[in-house]
Amino acid sequence: MLKKSIQIKNAAAMQKFAAQMAREIVAQPFDEHAKVIALVGDLGAGKTTFAQGLLRELGVKRRVISPTFLIIRPYSLLVTRTRYSRVFHIDCYRLNNSDELLSLGFKEILKNPQHIVLIEWPELIKKYLPKDTRWVKIEHPEKGMHRLVRLIG
Ligand SMILES: Nc1ncnc2c1ncn2[C@@H]1O[C@H](COP(=O)(O)OP(=O)(O)OP(=O)(O)O)[C@@H](O)[C@H]1O
Ligand SMILES: [Mg+2]
Repeated sequence: MLKKSIQIKNAAAMQKFAAQMAREIVAQPFDEHAKVIALVGDLGAGKTTFAQGLLRELGVKRRVISPTFLIIRPYSLLVTRTRYSRVFHIDCYRLNNSDELLSLGFKEILKNPQHIVLIEWPELIKKYLPKDTRWVKIEHPEKGMHRLVRLIG
């Protein structure tokens, strides 16, 4: 298991970091299921900021906002840009329980190898995540703009 710790000095750097991860992921061959990135961190840590950087890099022009109330926000990708078809930005913060996500079609989303799935507050649905989920843990110090990011998996 790979464990790296990276200092991210501001929001723009977080987006750059996410863009780099996007490039790495789309350069990889398809797995048997979706590629999943679990974004762990407190309120305001930078999970949505990360998602914005990743989606931009994959050519999404639409404004990327938090999927909090919708739970799952899908984005279509251009075939000219990547062989991946869609990114699903998921926020589990308002889920009452993990089964609620299943009723929104989460298992079908995971089945498709052409999908990339970004999940904020993934702890609640951990049991449904594939073993090869990439965990991005964002630490948010009390003072200053920097964040500490650790990649696991
Ligand atoms: N180094 C940094 N990395 C990421 N965001 C930063 C950084 N420094 C400042 N910010 C700011 O912190 C805020 C992070 O908010 P964001 O919505 O991304 O957090 P979140 O983890 O998704 O929170 P929530 O749990 O409420 O969804 C943004 O306003 C962003 O501009
Ligand atoms: Mg968020």
